[in-house]
Amino acid sequence: MKVSCIGGGAWGTTLAQVLSDNHHEVLIRDINPIFVDKINNEHTHPFFDITIPENIKATLSLEDAVAFSDIILLSVPTKVTRLVLKEVNSYLKKPALFINVSKGIEPETSYCVSQIVKDEIEEKNFKGYVNLSGPSHAEELILRKLTALVAASDKEEDAKFVQNLFSNARYLRVYTSSDVIGVETSGAIKNAIAIVSGVAFGMGLGENARAFLISRGVREIVLIVSALGGKTETAYGLSGVGDLIVTASSMNSRNFQCGLKIGQGMSVNEALASMTQTVEGIKTIEAAYQIGLKHNLELPIISAAYQVIKNESTAKDALSNLLSRSLKEEVIIVS
Ligand SMILES: NC(=O)c1ccc[n+]([C@@H]2O[C@H](COP(=O)([O-])OP(=O)(O)OC[C@H]3O[C@@H](n4cnc5c(N)ncnc54)[C@H](O)[C@@H]3O)[C@@H](O)[C@H]2O)c1
Repeated sequence: MKVSCIGGGAWGTTLAQVLSDNHHEVLIRDINPIFVDKINNEHTHPFFDITIPENIKATLSLEDAVAFSDIILLSVPTKVTRLVLKEVNSYLKKPALFINVSKGIEPETSYCVSQIVKDEIEEKNFKGYVNLSGPSHAEELILRKLTALVAASDKEEDAKFVQNLFSNARYLRVYTSSDVIGVETSGAIKNAIAIVSGVAFGMGLGENARAFLISRGVREIVLIVSALGGKTETAYGLSGVGDLIVTASSMNSRNFQCGLKIGQGMSVNEALASMTQTVEGIKTIEAAYQIGLKHNLELPIISAAYQVIKNESTAKDALSNLLSRSLKEEVIIVS
């Protein structure tokens, strides 16, 4: 099988290696000439200290990448997805299967990537859509460390196709799901909660506080998933709680690291500028906050995070406001 991977950063390159291990051919498209050169000529990537398989090739040309196959793996930051898809659509000559692995929500529209694909890809160019998500640090999977993901599609055959494409009996187990919005939304909103967890850590709060914010954060993920039409229970699976476990307290998570810097006193802009790789969570806080307003959801943690990223409040004041809310019963949302 041939796969066109659009976005050759940490995650795109890692998944390209999985595909190569599974005997598929991958052409990566990235806009960074240094990445393209390293992949083609040194079989390395600036983000990793390993050699990647020689049959993984890279190009600067989106047109060449689109012509390479009818499976388009989208691994670019969500903020550029719409622009990239517009261009992909203009080059497509036959229907393609879209596999999205980025984890974000478009703040302007509150759309997940499945909805952006529907907007930008003409019907004649569209074969199907699968969202591949779950608890995964590129830094581990590139070393072939055991990982599990979930492939969600409203067409069972597409979800199963992607399950088989990526599963590797030695180190990668892929489950299927029919809840595209649930998987996409959980995977995106968990980045917002990972930032909050990082802020708490940066402020010097302990593990008790982090567990408090993460588990109450799950409640907010559940509310948003449900408001957008996903299944509540999906938020408790690999793409929600699973990904929170791996993201919300790990220095391998850029969202956690970014939050940590904010908690230590950096401004949001300073924290973002200090990161060399994509941090989806800041924009996702904004998107989650807007979804909360639109659907009249009670999202105290997301709202506190929004005030901090908009410089309307310090992290310390946002925390005091959170704690001065009236006391309540713990209600676990199960459906
Ligand atoms: N890194 C991980 O462990 C991981 C795991 C799961 C999901 N993700 C998600 O995958 C997405 C990408 O993350 P990443 O870690 O690879 O980020 P990254 O910053 O390492 O890579 C993003 C890549 O996209 C490229 N890019 C930007 N605009 C482009 C365009 N117009 N066309 C082609 N390439 C373009 C950049 O040059 C860069 O190489 C994010 O949504 C992230 O949340 C990351």
